[in-house]
Amino acid sequence: MKANPVILIVDDQLQNIDLLEAYLVPQGYEIVKAANGEEALEKLSGNQIDLILLDVIMPGMDGFEVTRRIRQDDKIRLLPIILVTILWETEDRIKGIEAGCDDFLSTPVDKTELLVRIRSLLKVKAYNDLMSNYRKELESEVTRRSDELKHAVENLQQENAEHKRTEEALRDSEARYRALFEISADGILLADTETKTFKYANPALCRMLGYTEEELKTLSLADIHPKEDLPRVIAEFEAQARGEKTLAPDIPCLRKDGTVLYADINTTTLTVDNRPCNVGFFRDITDRKRNEERLQKLNRSLKIISECNSCLVRATDEKDLLNDVCQIIRKTGEYPIVWIGLLEIAEKDVLRPVAYAGSEFFDYASEKIDLTDPNGRNKILRSVLSSGQFQVCQKLPDGRQPCFGPPSAANQPYRSILSLPLFFDNRTMGALTIYSASADTFDDEEKKLLLELADDISYGISALRTGVKHQRAEEQVMINLTKIENALEGTVMALTVTSEMRDPYTAGHQRRVTHLACAIAQDMGLPKDRINAIRVAGLLHDIGKITIPAEILTKPSKLTDVEFAMIKIHPKAAHDIIKSVDFPWPVAKYILQHHEKLNGSGYPSGLKGDEILMESRILCVADIVEAMSSHRPYRPALGIDAALGDMLANKGVLYDPVVVDSCVKLFREKGFKFE
Ligand SMILES: [Fe+2]
Ligand SMILES: [Fe+2]
Repeated sequence: MKANPVILIVDDQLQNIDLLEAYLVPQGYEIVKAANGEEALEKLSGNQIDLILLDVIMPGMDGFEVTRRIRQDDKIRLLPIILVTILWETEDRIKGIEAGCDDFLSTPVDKTELLVRIRSLLKVKAYNDLMSNYRKELESEVTRRSDELKHAVENLQQENAEHKRTEEALRDSEARYRALFEISADGILLADTETKTFKYANPALCRMLGYTEEELKTLSLADIHPKEDLPRVIAEFEAQARGEKTLAPDIPCLRKDGTVLYADINTTTLTVDNRPCNVGFFRDITDRKRNEERLQKLNRSLKIISECNSCLVRATDEKDLLNDVCQIIRKTGEYPIVWIGLLEIAEKDVLRPVAYAGSEFFDYASEKIDLTDPNGRNKILRSVLSSGQFQVCQKLPDGRQPCFGPPSAANQPYRSILSLPLFFDNRTMGALTIYSASADTFDDEEKKLLLELADDISYGISALRTGVKHQRAEEQVMINLTKIENALEGTVMALTVTSEMRDPYTAGHQRRVTHLACAIAQDMGLPKDRINAIRVAGLLHDIGKITIPAEILTKPSKLTDVEFAMIKIHPKAAHDIIKSVDFPWPVAKYILQHHEKLNGSGYPSGLKGDEILMESRILCVADIVEAMSSHRPYRPALGIDAALGDMLANKGVLYDPVVVDSCVKLFREKGFKFE
């Protein structure tokens, strides 16, 4: 409401409007005028009106109709309406009330009544306006709250829908994960991080370990890993729980039946029932690991064979060879004890250790294994040596004493033994025995390769022994040859001495000539074999003189031509004596030519230059030098200088120049003297 209430006066009589205006304006009211019903309705829509004074009887639309129209218009229906009329019949009043008026004023209008009624209705309007505003506020609040409620409901519905979708997604996801868990080829095991007990296991893991899921739920980490590996397994498990690593490779796991499988375990962590858990994904790598081990063993065996074979090729001594082989097998094969025993030749039931390789010193040479000893420890060896077949024990119980080795070996946990036969001359002569610290060490491939190795060793021993036999045979031949040579030299010497016994003046002549001739040949660089030939020829060169009468040989005066002619046959006589002896050299020819001269003036054939053999030229020089420097029945000794002078004077004419130079050098530079 404005500060001054606005009153619409509707009357077709202008003087009536003026009268009312005259009453009201002084009282502080503002006046809006309308001359009929239609104008009144127009003014109402364009102005803020607080009260209507409405004439009833008007041309066109009367006051009742205007009242009805106002009451039908929501915007203005609460506007106070006072009908001003001269009609005061009860029927008219009822009509006015039915139309919706608030009060009546009779004309002529009493000013006081007019003002009281106006004030009264304006109060009611003010109250109505207040109520209307309050209602509007209330309605607005209700609308707002309704909207809020509506939004809340909508949100709730949306949330419900979302929740439903999430639930469906979760159900879907759980179903998918459950399916993955169930059909996974990898084993999946959920373990409580702190207690290390198991909560869930998938079918693959149950198959892997041979337990049902219910059984696994009663177990913990310590139940599915070998005791000796547990510290490492727990360390890996805890590192995975801390998130330091995801993969624990090569973990040994115990099946329900006690066998071992190997797995790579990938782990992630998860909270289940408010407990931290390790989810382990087990991939069975047993086959891969076995294959790797198989390859590794194969390589190891091939390396052993290769190294042993290169030893066999170089071997010169049986004992060294067998010890080297043991060392190679032990080192390359990583076996704790390897040894070779050979049967005693004299005692066929005694095995003598001949080679040993072990982690500690052992005086194996003093050992002697009696195969007839009923002690079960020798059973393997007895079997190998009697059958010629290899024997293997792959699962020796812990603490079983090995049949051979240092005293402490009895306490070692040897779990496998392989004993391989060794052969010589198609007989089993011994065994190569290998100890392993683990069970099931020797698989078929390794046994096959080690059996080949044993054959190679047998061959090596045979080759060495055959080689030794040959060497011994050769040595015997050499001894025999030396004996024959000695016998020959003795025979030659005996012949020499015999021939010289008839001629005391020339006694020792042949030995001294031989001495000088050999020295010249050596100085000239002749091979040993030719020097030996010269030695024999020298010792026998004058043997033909046994056919000459002793008187001629020992005649103190000059020989007659006939006597000299007799002397000159001695080379031919010697040749005839010697030629039937089967010397390795043409000794008879050397002797036949020992008086020939380069210029053809010699005898018996008058050979010249290269027709004369070198051995004979050497004998010729040595013969004349010795003869001239020695005493003869028909003259005194001429001395070595005269002899060498004659040599030099006739060098290249009678005598070979190279032989003469060597001879002169021997006496003058090398201090040669006749013995
Ligand atoms: Fe002679
Ligand atoms: Fe002679």
